[in-house]
Amino acid sequence: MNTGRAIRACVFDAYGTLFDVDSAVDACRGRLGDAADTIAALWRQKQLEYTWLRTLMGRYADFRTVTGEALAYAFDAQGMRDEALYADLMTAYDTPRAYPDVAPALARLRARGLRLAILSNGTPAMLEAAVTAAGLSDRLDLVVSVDDLGVYKPDPRVYRLATEGLGLQPGEILFHSSNGWDIAGAACFGLRTVWINRYARSRERLPCGPDHALESLAGVGPLLEGPADR
Ligand code: LAC
Repeated sequence: MNTGRAIRACVFDAYGTLFDVDSAVDACRGRLGDAADTIAALWRQKQLEYTWLRTLMGRYADFRTVTGEALAYAFDAQGMRDEALYADLMTAYDTPRAYPDVAPALARLRARGLRLAILSNGTPAMLEAAVTAAGLSDRLDLVVSVDDLGVYKPDPRVYRLATEGLGLQPGEILFHSSNGWDIAGAACFGLRTVWINRYARSRERLPCGPDHALESLAGVGPLLEGPADR
């Protein structure tokens, strides 16, 4: 991948890429019992669907609201009613654990002089809490939320927030996401992309595929050193 000279910044999706979206369910697994995995999957699926649908409908609500609505749907679908558990899951969602490969990868990239940023659907408060709890504040130059824009990924205007925030051209930014649809949106906008395929998912049949795919962030430093392949 011939990105070494041109890339000036690495930008990361937050939930599912830096932060484990199953952390909250894991924190309450004992109380969720057999429903834990179903709740985790449905919660995330509905959370994303609601971001896409609200953007199409022109009815933005912030990501914490959408996350709460998605959890309410998942509880209903499982016939669950437990306000204390609902509240505890929402609280736990504010401080998700970072994947173990995140801190070393950010340190490696920073040592190369790259600027590092998050671009996420999360609200500024959610992202601040997550970054602080994971001890990543010192490793990031910029945390960009869609919240002021009032639309969600993969609207192209979201990816423009990264170029504007960093003052760079799209081709100077390497964007990392575990979400294939997020990679498609970023790549169509013109960012260079690395799909961090943490969950061994199938390739999305969407326009604009990733420049590169890795299983985790462990390979990001070497990737920038690799030989030209395009
Ligand atoms: C985010 C969602 C897509 O952090 O995971 O933007």
